[in-house]
Amino acid sequence: MSKPKIFITRAIPEKGLEIIKEVCEVDIWQEELPPSRADLLQHVHGMDGLLSLLTDKIDSEVMDEAGPQLNVISNLAVGFDNIDVNAATARKIPVGNTPDVLTDATADFAFALMMAVARRIPEAERYVHDGKWKTWGPMILLGVDLEGATLGLIGLGRIGKAMARRAQGFDMRVIYYDPNEKPQTPDLKATQVDFETLLKESDFVSLHTPLTPDTHHLIDSEALSKMKSNAVVINTSRGPIVDPEALYKALKERRIFGAGLDVTEPEPLPLHSPLLTLDNIVIAPHIASASRTTREKMAWMAAQNLIAGLKGERLPNCVNPQVYFD
Ligand code: GLV
Repeated sequence: MSKPKIFITRAIPEKGLEIIKEVCEVDIWQEELPPSRADLLQHVHGMDGLLSLLTDKIDSEVMDEAGPQLNVISNLAVGFDNIDVNAATARKIPVGNTPDVLTDATADFAFALMMAVARRIPEAERYVHDGKWKTWGPMILLGVDLEGATLGLIGLGRIGKAMARRAQGFDMRVIYYDPNEKPQTPDLKATQVDFETLLKESDFVSLHTPLTPDTHHLIDSEALSKMKSNAVVINTSRGPIVDPEALYKALKERRIFGAGLDVTEPEPLPLHSPLLTLDNIVIAPHIASASRTTREKMAWMAAQNLIAGLKGERLPNCVNPQVYFD
């Protein structure tokens, strides 16, 4: 029997690739940059499975171009806003993602960004490199404290909860806003508040919510205007949850203390972005889950989803389980 054919849109860690290669005929996009739309449409043609990344827009055109034999889309990410899940569900194609394994790495990175902005670490490093360090000074590069500060989490899913646990170790007060009305988990010592209260009371606002039409530009000029003057905004979720122009204005006018972004709108952030002219922002190139072990686990999990779908079995992590209903 011939092996199922699959397209992988970029080289992924061996931990996932080796098990895929055992059971599939594999076409891998080997370039550093993602396939163009034309290349994606060409390579997906006739495939039984697709292993995609968050940089690939997987919509009905891609699914139709693949053909009716396409029976699984496995996304190497926990987020799946790059995929038109409704279009996949309409075609009975299960879509997989990679939750849990990246929770701690992502929360670690969000926390690292928070500390980097609070204590101005990248700015301090530039200060030294630029030869500005002349003496110890009582007023040099003063930051803000985490101890006793209020951390406001927008979204109390897996990563939000991991942030709450970390914040307890730093003696922070934790409040959260979650439109899904998540029940309180007593050991988390996090208090549920409404959106407005979260903006007004938080010293640090950290975003852990998926990108949906409801969360697009959730942090806009109005939201920023309600924040404290010492507030720090941290985004490790999806770039378009923050309005970049509004954030630029708030930071430029020093209406908030700073921001730490691992995700931006657009991605990659163009070099001419005004955000890059500011010294009260720290920007990373969407690497919150980028530890070696985490990326290996993600690749393994994406492979498990892919292979299950190819065998007609239920995906271990399926974002559209409706495909299994009659
Ligand atoms: C990364 O952003 C992910 O969704 O896994």
